[in-house]
Amino acid sequence: MIEQNNALAPADAAADAAVAPAATGGIPAGVTHPKTIKSFVRRAGRTTTGQAKAFEDLGPRFVLPYTAAPIDATATFGRSAPLVLEIGFGMGEATAHIARVRPGDNFLCCEVHEPGVGALLKRIGEQELTNIRILQHDAVEVIDHMLPEGSLDGVHIFFPDPWHKTKHNKRRLIQPPLVAKLAARLKPGGYLHCATDWQPYAEQMLQVLSAEALLQNTAEGFAPQPDYRPLTKFENRGLRLGHGVWDVVFNRRH
Ligand SMILES: C[S@@+](CC[C@H](N)C(=O)[O-])C[C@H]1O[C@@H](n2cnc3c(N)ncnc32)[C@H](O)[C@@H]1O
Repeated sequence: MIEQNNALAPADAAADAAVAPAATGGIPAGVTHPKTIKSFVRRAGRTTTGQAKAFEDLGPRFVLPYTAAPIDATATFGRSAPLVLEIGFGMGEATAHIARVRPGDNFLCCEVHEPGVGALLKRIGEQELTNIRILQHDAVEVIDHMLPEGSLDGVHIFFPDPWHKTKHNKRRLIQPPLVAKLAARLKPGGYLHCATDWQPYAEQMLQVLSAEALLQNTAEGFAPQPDYRPLTKFENRGLRLGHGVWDVVFNRRH
């Protein structure tokens, strides 16, 4: 998602605007208590008519309410199957593709951006997918409160916001505390697959995952792109422009 990642300079700018410490004594205006650092900013974005209709028609079946209680995946999906968590699916292009080519797996997909949720619902309808459920909520809270240890067979984090500026690097998802939580939630043999088009973040991913004792690299360093992860149109355009893309795939040790 080269274009969107490059367009994340606006996300950096939005983050700057959201926190104006000099003017507010360290706490953003309107906030009564300090917040934890989030890996996202709520971007403005228009939900199209088609997305709104998909929300109305398919939301009740495919969008789960966030609750601070462990999820019963078998009941939620109506079947018992390997469970894969996706963090930050954007507009859901790769998500829908993967659900289609892996019909035997269940995909629990988190995204906070409302038009993205609408876009994935639309794809679910168009492609008649049944193995996706969506949580429109901060994935970190989902991991903390809904996913018990050893409950996941896989985790996908594709093109997470790179947070280019050094002062925003702390917002990156792939950092030791979150990776430790994800590793603990994987079953032995389960996998964690990250991809990025931002080389410094790729190196951080490799370093952080290598340092997690529960994880083992499936490759010598960066991994070949697994065949289930499609080249999205944004990635294709970036590749044509000569940008690199790096995949990192680790397994939970037995
Ligand atoms: C750069 S986009 C990539 C989207 C998609 N994976 C792709 O490859 O096109 C990153 C997405 O992650 C979402 N995101 C970031 N942090 C998140 C979190 N903690 N929980 C849920 N979604 C998050 C953002 O809203 C954004 O849509």
